Amino acid sequence: MDAPAIEIRSLTKTFGSVHAVNDLSFTAGPGRVTGFLGPNGAGKSTTLRALVGLVTATSGEALIGGRPYGALEHPAQVVGAHFEGAFHPGRSARDHLRVYASQAKVDTGRCDEVLAMVGLTEAAGRRVRGFSMGMRQRLGLATALLGDPQVLVLDESANGLDPAGVQWLRSFLKAFAARGGTVLLSSHLLSEVELTVDDVVIVAGGRLRRACAITDLREEASAQVRIASPDGDKLTAFLRDRFPAAQALSATAATVPGVTAAQVGAAAFADGLELHELAESADSLETVFLRLTSQEAAA
Ligand SMILES: Nc1ncnc2c1ncn2[C@@H]1O[C@H](COP(=O)(O)OP(=O)(O)O)[C@@H](O)[C@H]1O
Ligand SMILES: [Mg+2]
Repeated sequence: MDAPAIEIRSLTKTFGSVHAVNDLSFTAGPGRVTGFLGPNGAGKSTTLRALVGLVTATSGEALIGGRPYGALEHPAQVVGAHFEGAFHPGRSARDHLRVYASQAKVDTGRCDEVLAMVGLTEAAGRRVRGFSMGMRQRLGLATALLGDPQVLVLDESANGLDPAGVQWLRSFLKAFAARGGTVLLSSHLLSEVELTVDDVVIVAGGRLRRACAITDLREEASAQVRIASPDGDKLTAFLRDRFPAAQALSATAATVPGVTAAQVGAAAFADGLELHELAESADSLETVFLRLTSQEAAA
């Protein structure tokens, strides 16, 4: 059965004069890993905290399966969350989990189960103080899993992981979603999670910039063809007739958005236009992300 969806509806949270979250709306559906992305200070953590009742919204709603966290009958079984820095450094991993297990009214036997799920069985008795970033992230995920929830809310859980750790987290979250679970994973680095997420919700300055499938973002990043011809006049006429969206780079060169090199090449061949350059170029996904979250995009 599908897990409950996460719904953020016109959420606003102000701290004094700071608009941490500003009229934000999006959904994260079951069976998907949703990346909640934006630069530092974008309002991600505040939104995720509102979702699990750690922050009271100024206005709007943060809902899980149509209900605010406070109205869930068995919250630990519905949603598990982890936020950065939630550890007492002097406690062992197992003791950390026991504290949370009693809060979540979960049997303490579950602690060893979740430690095994994240590969920390060997480290169960060690103090968190000596843990690497990767081990801390695993322990955070174990904490979120205590109640065997259907929804995971993870704040920067990929942050500081080495490539093997990122890959491990990816398989774990993909498997969780494949079983029908809902995952909302925040990150300030698209590159850290781009292979993990199915959908992206991009925020900056507390506002939504884009919500779409990661494949849509990839499409936006690709599909640009650069062409050049020694015959500037003929090139201009060709582009005007065939590809009016083209942008001139010089008198003899231009870029054509939203097409493949094959399409432009075939048209040029048909029109007898001599080409000295015909190349697909792609912005990186990171460039698209930066453009969406830049100050100018806010204006
Ligand atoms: N408890 C708080 N008191 C005052 N300002 C806060 C508080 N929590 C967050 N903020 C501010 O709200 C904005 C968004 O913060 P945050 O949600 O942590 O962003 P992100 O997680 O995307 O980095 C920032 O300007 C931050 O300084
Ligand atoms: Mg944050």
